[in-house]
Order: sequence, then structure tokens, then C-alpha cells
Amino acid sequence: MSGSTSRSKGNQSVGEVAVSRAGLQGLVTDARARTFDLVSDLSDDQFQVPLLRTINPFLWEIGHVAYFQEYWVLRHALGQAPLRTDGDALYDSAKVEHDTRWHLPLPSRSETLRYMEEVRDRVIDGVSNGSCDSDSDAYFVRLSAFHEDMHDEAFLITRQTLGYCVPAALPVKDAPAVDTAITSDLCIAAGVYTVGSSADEGFVFDNEKWAHSVNVPEFRIARSLVTQREFLNFIEQTGSRPPVYWKREKDGSWFRRHFDRWLPLEPDRPVSNISWFQANAYCRWAQRRLPTEFEWEIAARRGGCEQMFGSVWQWTSSDFLPYAGFSEDPYKEYSTPWFRTHKTLRGGGWSTRSRMMRQAYRNFYTPDRTDLWAGIRTCALDS
Ligand SMILES: [Fe+2]
Repeated sequence: MSGSTSRSKGNQSVGEVAVSRAGLQGLVTDARARTFDLVSDLSDDQFQVPLLRTINPFLWEIGHVAYFQEYWVLRHALGQAPLRTDGDALYDSAKVEHDTRWHLPLPSRSETLRYMEEVRDRVIDGVSNGSCDSDSDAYFVRLSAFHEDMHDEAFLITRQTLGYCVPAALPVKDAPAVDTAITSDLCIAAGVYTVGSSADEGFVFDNEKWAHSVNVPEFRIARSLVTQREFLNFIEQTGSRPPVYWKREKDGSWFRRHFDRWLPLEPDRPVSNISWFQANAYCRWAQRRLPTEFEWEIAARRGGCEQMFGSVWQWTSSDFLPYAGFSEDPYKEYSTPWFRTHKTLRGGGWSTRSRMMRQAYRNFYTPDRTDLWAGIRTCALDS
């Protein structure tokens, strides 16, 4: 790791280390608190979830979040002995098949919560006593927190999938409306642009490495996201499949399920919960196209588009591929298993922690997924 701390440059003051330790402690504490917020109101019955390909059992997933942190920070970075003899057998996502997670001898909910607290407290102790001061050790603390942030978004998706209520503790509970007065495209001239992350940007994932130049023809990208109104026009004119959580009543009115409530369509909110295929079908109808991931990133770096971050994830036309010179970071299963079969999404949704949202960050899912808060930003066809 390099970047946001100055320790690697060898001239740090004690104060900088203290701030950095406090920053790491805050990150770990905050991520774990969010996890607790997202599951603590659920009943034991709600913890029992059906076996669906797109979700994990809550009891397994919360234990996995703590295990990942224990594995990389306490065991790998700090050399501590395992806290649980069965941790690897239960919680290693690379080794425990998805469907097996419903049939494991998992510890009870209260025991799992105690394990989550113990791992967190030991990591915070390690940070406070200086054991994580090196850049490489601090890297794993941050990796564990960002990994937790991703699972926290998954907990929300699971709650939406199962029709559970929106967690009361969430400060933001849906995507904001699109400013429909903004209808124009942003025109970006042909040129050589930099994409990807550089070493001075702080924490980055392996698939963002490294910053490099790309030669891009002129393109025009919508300044606004596609709204529910626009998508409704598309499905009413073409008979295409609606978003997975939409339904039409006998009187013709449309509703959208948001967690446990059916809401009338809110025409100005961005459409979401559509697959990559549906996004492309919309584009064909609208005589538009999806941006490539580099076009999206170039537009994000330039500024001028609305809601690039914090509204809904945005499908791009790009396959999720390694950049030239790619090499795996220590968490080898983060990117490599998913190259070529997944599409790249950019930006970040209302459900995403703001610290996860960066111009170069690459999210990736298979194109069939409809359970994500992912929507559409289009480009002009002749660009
Ligand atoms: Fe994970």
C-alpha cells in the first residue's frame, strides 16, 4: 500500500501516525457498526433464508466478514494464531461452495456476534499498539474494511431480494431523483486520456492497476441517468420485460417494490434492478448505447455529468478484463476468477459507502443480475 499515509516516505511525524491509527480504528469500527446495523433488527426466522444463487445466509455472511478480517489482519499481517479451529472450514469463501453455506455447522447467532466483536477489538488493539503501522499491514486493515463495506451492500441487496424492511439505521434509503431538466449530452473530444489508479491514490484494488493511457474517439455521454419514466415508455412501447420489482395493476398503474413496500412508480427516480441485457435493449430502443468503462471514467474525471456516484451503479458495455500488466494482490480471489465472464459497472449507488466510490473503481457482475441497484447512463450512437 502507498498513498494516504506518509510513512513510506520515511519522514513522518508522530502526529501523522496517530492520525493514521485513529483513521484505521475509525474505519474498522464504522464498518463493523454498519454490519450490525444491517442485521441486528432481523428476527431469527428472518435469518433463515432460502437457497438463492444471488444471496448468502446472513449467519454465514456476517461470520465470513469477521473471518476475512481475522485471516488477513490478525493471522496474515500480525501472525496471530487462529481464533477458531473451524474458521477456515466454515468461512473461507474460496473453499466453501456457495450452496454448502446453507448446510454448515455454523456457530449460533450470539456466538457469531461475539466472534465479530472479538476480531474487531483485536484489530483495533493491533492498530493502537502500532502493530499495523507499516504500509503493508495497514493495507490489510483497509482491505478488511472495504471487503466488509461490499458485504454490507450485499446485506441490503439480500433484504431487498427477500422483501424485508429497509434497515431503520440507514441514513439514505433510496436513489435520489434525476434532475429531468438536464437532458443534454456531455461531449468529450477525441484524445489520449488516463484511466486506472496510480500509486498515490491510497487504497486501490488489483484490477485498477495501473493508471495508463487510452486513445478514445470523440463521444457524447448523457449528463443524466435513465429514469423510471423513460424505462416505462420503453417497456410499454415494446412489450419488453419490466424491472424485476415492478408490477402493473389491473387499472394499468405501475408499482415498484422497495424492500417490503409497494410504491407507485416515481417517474423521476433512476431506473434500477435491470440486467445488462435489459440495459442494452433499452439503449437499442432509444437509439443510444452504453458507455465503455473508459468513457465512463473519463467523463467522471472531467466532471459535468450528474449522479455519477451515490445514485445507482451504472452498467457499462465493457467486459471485466485485466489491465495490461495485471498481477494479483494477496487476496487472489478478488478479481481473477471473475475476469471475462462479468461486465463492469462504474460509479456507486445510494447503497454504497461513499468511501468505496472512486473514479477508477471497477465493480463487476454477470450480465444477468437484476438484484442490484444498477441502472443506465447512455451515450449517443454516432459517438
Ligand atoms: Fe467476502
